[in-house]
Amino acid sequence: MKSIFWRNNGLVIIDQTLLPARVEYLFLSNPTEVIEAIRKMCIRGAPALAIAAAFALFLGIRNLRARSYIEFRKDFDRIKRSIASSRPTAINLFWALERMSRRLEENKEKSVREIKRILFKEAKDILEENRSVTRQLSKIGAQLIKDNDRILTICNTGILATVDYGTALGVIYEAKRQKKSFKVFACETRPLLQGARLTAWELKQNKIDVTLICDGMAGYLMQKKLINKVIVGADRIVLNGDTANKIGTYNLAVLCRYHKIPFFVAAPLSSFDLSIKNGDFIPIEERDPREVTHLFFKKPIAPEGIKVFNPAFDITPHRLITCFITEKGIIKPPFKKNIKKIYNENQ
Ligand code: MRU
Repeated sequence: MKSIFWRNNGLVIIDQTLLPARVEYLFLSNPTEVIEAIRKMCIRGAPALAIAAAFALFLGIRNLRARSYIEFRKDFDRIKRSIASSRPTAINLFWALERMSRRLEENKEKSVREIKRILFKEAKDILEENRSVTRQLSKIGAQLIKDNDRILTICNTGILATVDYGTALGVIYEAKRQKKSFKVFACETRPLLQGARLTAWELKQNKIDVTLICDGMAGYLMQKKLINKVIVGADRIVLNGDTANKIGTYNLAVLCRYHKIPFFVAAPLSSFDLSIKNGDFIPIEERDPREVTHLFFKKPIAPEGIKVFNPAFDITPHRLITCFITEKGIIKPPFKKNIKKIYNENQ
């Protein structure tokens, strides 16, 4: 299954809002369509957002008629700003836009035609690199998985959230490929049910032993010793290791500390934001209250007019994280020092 790819001069994505009932693809031919697909969660998951953002930018500039670099840059920046406004928390989206900007800046002496070709290549590179990065990260993370493990995860961090394999789920796929025997428990992940609709579906398709639970059941399972590891993804990891991920991740980390269960965060280096010193400064997206009051915006499940608070992410303080699994190795505490080190080594 391919979740995101380029074909016939457009970006093709699986419409994740229709899963698991239907597998349907959307063909996106301009930035407005990509932005809408991102806002509606047809495409989601931090690494997939990076790829969508890079191609959205290319789709926006490919037909520009600007002749000079100055003119071209103005339009480029306008399109970039609109893509950047689609979702605020996953740093990968901004990382991809900045990478495209840098490539533009480096090639400003070239003709507009040549610049367009270079930016197209950059978007394709971002996609292809995600494949190798997640494979590498998965290999490194699979060392932490042992026979008879019972692993809990949240949200969707797999094939649908990346180009292939995934981050936390990539580790699980790789451990399975190595013929390790283990069980996975997937939190349903209210309100949009990425765990139930996407992770449970993906893992079942790939013959992984997966059990779906409601988010509030995690503590009971830990108390009953049914879980011995938690692996999650990340939307933004900052300098001190504080980590933004799907709402409910922090609850799991607190439970892990109480029950002495290791808590792993699997994420590529493109998920790190060293410009922010701690989690207090991470922008947290608040989404439509109807995600909470209605089942998929359709069936009401709460009284009309009820007050709702719907933050899409929470921050797990670094002290609750056992280690980070990246494509460049495992990062252990002290995080500030070790994140800086791995980052500097890979600049
Ligand atoms: O709101 P979503 O579904 O985009 O949230 C996604 C997550 O929180 C994932 O855990 C994270 O992006 C990592 S995906 C490899």
